[in-house]
Amino acid sequence: MSLLSGKKILLGISAGIAAYKTATLVRAFIKAGADVKVVMTPASKDFITPLTLSTLSKNPVHSSFTNPDDDNETWNNHVELGLWADLLIIAPATANTLSKMAHGICDNLLLATYLSAKCPVYFAPAMDLDMYKHPSTLESFRALQSFGNIMIPATSGELASGLVGEGRMAEPEDIVSFIENDILSKSPLHGKKVLITAGPTHEAIDPVRFIGNHSSGKMGFEIAKAAANLGAEVILISGPTHQKLSHSFVTIIPVTSAEEMYNAAHTYFKTVDIAVFAAAVADYKPKIAATEKIKKKEKTLSLELEKTKDILASLGHIKEKQFLVGFALETNNEIENAKGKLKAKNLNLIVLNSLKDKGAGFKSDTNKVTLIDRNETITTFDLKSKEAVAVDILNAIINQLHA
Ligand code: CTP
Repeated sequence: MSLLSGKKILLGISAGIAAYKTATLVRAFIKAGADVKVVMTPASKDFITPLTLSTLSKNPVHSSFTNPDDDNETWNNHVELGLWADLLIIAPATANTLSKMAHGICDNLLLATYLSAKCPVYFAPAMDLDMYKHPSTLESFRALQSFGNIMIPATSGELASGLVGEGRMAEPEDIVSFIENDILSKSPLHGKKVLITAGPTHEAIDPVRFIGNHSSGKMGFEIAKAAANLGAEVILISGPTHQKLSHSFVTIIPVTSAEEMYNAAHTYFKTVDIAVFAAAVADYKPKIAATEKIKKKEKTLSLELEKTKDILASLGHIKEKQFLVGFALETNNEIENAKGKLKAKNLNLIVLNSLKDKGAGFKSDTNKVTLIDRNETITTFDLKSKEAVAVDILNAIINQLHA
């Protein structure tokens, strides 16, 4: 999964020969999981057709303020386009378009959209080498960067004029990596390592049977995904679940029993900055797991259970710099019990789930949580998707790290 996955990207194309490469650029954004819309200057249509771009982006392509073919002459709302985008990339950005952007001229839809956009703006210049070096162009670069726009520098090579020098638009795959790296470097968890436990554990009774619980693992997997999307390097220790996650920043360590989860957590804990324990670890396991399948000879069967090791508590007692987050699933006296666990396990934050709340807990796709920090500040959230709850939890962690 790329950091561009789920992002709304608005691609603005101005009239340079490099416009032919935007077909590849749109494909690369789509492959990264982004939602892409294209705005073209009228003259850029001489270099690549709107049909090619609308087919690849799966969205209509706009190049004028109105749609003349439409009987009602509908208006293309540049403000809406600008506000829709999570990021705007102007590629190729010609000397003419860059100069107009620098001076607030908006005599086409792309320029009006640029002026309306509130999102990060990237521009990838493309022009002949002497134009690229001209003081007027350099002044445009300077002005746009002073507005906070981000330049993806042109490269050197053969130009359309036949001359060789600086001015070639960066290659589409390099534009994608540039943007991904830029987003990563600004992500709040960039450079942080996060350990997450998720799912149930299975405690063997014999080779074919186990004691388990109904945890789906969804909450932990959503936290792992959200942490990775915020730039963290994630180690996800997961008990047996059907959850899937493929993200270049996430390493999944599959385990089965509480003992295996304990060992894996202790292996990685020393190296991490943040640890979030969302797993529903079995509190007891059979004292002896039979080596052969237990036959149904007897009328009753008793299993002797013994306590598993409390992974979270054991790490709470050895933690140094780590920010440690635990979960508490309670049915009564919720706040007091959660506060007790926060202290007993030496946590920085505890996420309380009350089974009294409808839609909270193990199997559902939603959750309702209350966060309690070390100062006993209590923050209660509404019922939300587990995806949204994961973001709330990580934002709370980030706020506390910066407090
Ligand atoms: N936990 C753990 N190892 C265990 C049991 C629990 O790491 N053997 C972690 C869970 O991942 C969770 C937190 O401890 O983050 C709280 O688990 P919970 O079962 O609610 O609390 P317990 O401390 O086990 O207490 P009780 O079951 O008595 O409420």
